[in-house]
Amino acid sequence: MFEDARLICVDCAAEYSADEPIWRCRCGGMLDLRFVSRFDPAEVARRRPTMWRYREAIPIRDDANIVSMDEGFTPLIPREIAGRSILVKQEQLFQTGSYKDRGASVLISKAKELGVRRVVEDSSGNAGCAIAAYCAAAHIECHIYVPADTSPAKLAQIVAYGAELHLVPGSRSDTARAVLEAAESEYYASHSWNPFFFQGTKTIAYEIYEQLDGQRPDAVVLPVGNGTLLLGAAIGFAELRDAGLIDRLPRLIAVQAERCAPLAARFVEQPVVEPQPTLAEGIAIADPIRGPQILDAVVQTGGCFITVTEDEIVEALKQTARAAQYLVPSSAATLAEVARYIETQNPPEDATIVSVYTGHGLKSTEKMMRLFGS
Ligand SMILES: Cc1ncc(COP(=O)(O)O)c(C=O)c1O
Ligand SMILES: [Zn+2]
Repeated sequence: MFEDARLICVDCAAEYSADEPIWRCRCGGMLDLRFVSRFDPAEVARRRPTMWRYREAIPIRDDANIVSMDEGFTPLIPREIAGRSILVKQEQLFQTGSYKDRGASVLISKAKELGVRRVVEDSSGNAGCAIAAYCAAAHIECHIYVPADTSPAKLAQIVAYGAELHLVPGSRSDTARAVLEAAESEYYASHSWNPFFFQGTKTIAYEIYEQLDGQRPDAVVLPVGNGTLLLGAAIGFAELRDAGLIDRLPRLIAVQAERCAPLAARFVEQPVVEPQPTLAEGIAIADPIRGPQILDAVVQTGGCFITVTEDEIVEALKQTARAAQYLVPSSAATLAEVARYIETQNPPEDATIVSVYTGHGLKSTEKMMRLFGS
């Protein structure tokens, strides 16, 4: 399977076999993956409810290399927001507490297939937890680089999985610089650079399509830091459209925290403001490397960017917890955005709007104590 899979440089168009253990082009450019992705809804419907039911769409050659904990097929539940009923994908329910498991399962399966013995990865926390967990499952040595001020719950989780933690003083960008140095000589299991990660996150689109009984939603509202979920969704919906299963792409609505909103600024051609710390640490990416692709994806679907303030994040966090859902602040930011989207864009009454809970609140205990503790 997948003999046709090629890595393609987005800058110089150089091509490589997908079986080369590289994460960027010789020219330094980013790589995308090209192959024939297949999805037969009738066949898939007979399989177990995990993301690996889309086996013919996930470019791992040999089943023996799949590293899986039966992840995926998260519930899609209704929720009332701004007077409308929307549907929310429960992506906080993964093994490691965030949707990053989708990408980690595919990326670490590929690392295993390539015979990689050791990986490095940088993260604001959740991707590091997911890569560390799947490396533990695959018996691959794992080094995770994170900003020194990352939430302790995420640090504990990374170490508990047996990964080596590298705490980097300074900003998230300083962490990215530190790992790039290490990645000169190691396999970089990067959720933003490595195209295999997006082959995992794209399965959210397939699941939404199946859970809506073969329909496309009108809009999908997603948080954006490095855009791994948004770009994955864009790939997945584009594949469904190319297979003739949906007529057009749903609008992709992207949320950024107002205090760190480089792409929202570029979307409206405003100067990018120096980022400030935000409660939504998961989406606080000052310079996302796939920024141009994210902007393209949003524009192509007729979507938009919406920013949310710290007060809106806290309010959404509170309301969501009172609705019995305990989320990290980055997830709550997305719900604040759904409300803003409904109020400002006034989508038709019968529009199907889907959003996500991306990360479990147990990851942010100390922030929750600061916000809600007496
Ligand atoms: C809980 C949570 N939500 C949203 C995001 C944003 O995801 P991305 O950086 O893929 O855009 C992250 C990223 O770490 C996250 O941890
Ligand atoms: Zn290149």
